[in-house]
Amino acid sequence: MKCDHSKKHFVVHNAKGHIQQKVVNFIMNLRTTSHPFYLSRHGQSEYNDLGRIGGDSGLTNHGVNYARKLAEFVDKKIVKDEKGADVPARLWTSTMRRTKETAQFIQQNKIIVKGDADQYEWVQMRPKAWHHLDELYAGACDGMTYEEIEETYPEEWERRNVDKLAYRYPRGESYLDVIARLEPIIIEMERHQEPLLIIGHQAVLRIIYAFYIGKSRAEAPYLSIPLNTVIELVPGPVTCKEQVNLPLIASLLFSNFTLFVAICSLQPC
Ligand code: G3H
Repeated sequence: MKCDHSKKHFVVHNAKGHIQQKVVNFIMNLRTTSHPFYLSRHGQSEYNDLGRIGGDSGLTNHGVNYARKLAEFVDKKIVKDEKGADVPARLWTSTMRRTKETAQFIQQNKIIVKGDADQYEWVQMRPKAWHHLDELYAGACDGMTYEEIEETYPEEWERRNVDKLAYRYPRGESYLDVIARLEPIIIEMERHQEPLLIIGHQAVLRIIYAFYIGKSRAEAPYLSIPLNTVIELVPGPVTCKEQVNLPLIASLLFSNFTLFVAICSLQPC
């Protein structure tokens, strides 16, 4: 494959097979400009507070406080450049109440953006809700505590402990299922060029985070994505290093090479 991203010119020869074609599609959608991603879990939900998984509960007061703080963060850090000028920016949530409620205080302002040849109107942080970003569905165990699952379905509990990545809840999903449904999201993330905030869920953000920092899919289900934290991912041309620059805000640099390795390593079998 020969690429000239500056001229949007690609020559593809003899790319046969499933993985090769996915890689071609991925590379053709890559942007060479830098565009940061911000990942945040929803604020604390009523089910988080009760230790229950899944469901579609709303936020607790703690969760609402985080939503307010997140809106302030967006205003200071995401929708403005270093000189304080408004920039186009995107906001994605899942379709679940707790992520939409976490986005509720984020302002949507109309701005005029000057392109190379023209200018156009842009609504900053207009929310887009994706089913792909919904939490891993626990099927028959949805709404239960981990203790209840262990007591009610001891064999399922054991199977999950043995292979958390491949384990699929009865009538629910596995981490491998989530990886498969996130593939279009990764392509979309690469296709755009504006800063993007994703308000999501632990399992889903584990996969996106693992993908960008080059962790293997075996490690992904165990990564820590804490509540009340924004993770900033900043692409660089070559480097891949990690820095923490604000309390509760983790920042990472990654390279296109890391992305390429990651797309291959995260493919479900
Ligand atoms: O609600 C479920 C969690 O977000 C997923 O966590 O895969 O570690 O059980 P887990």
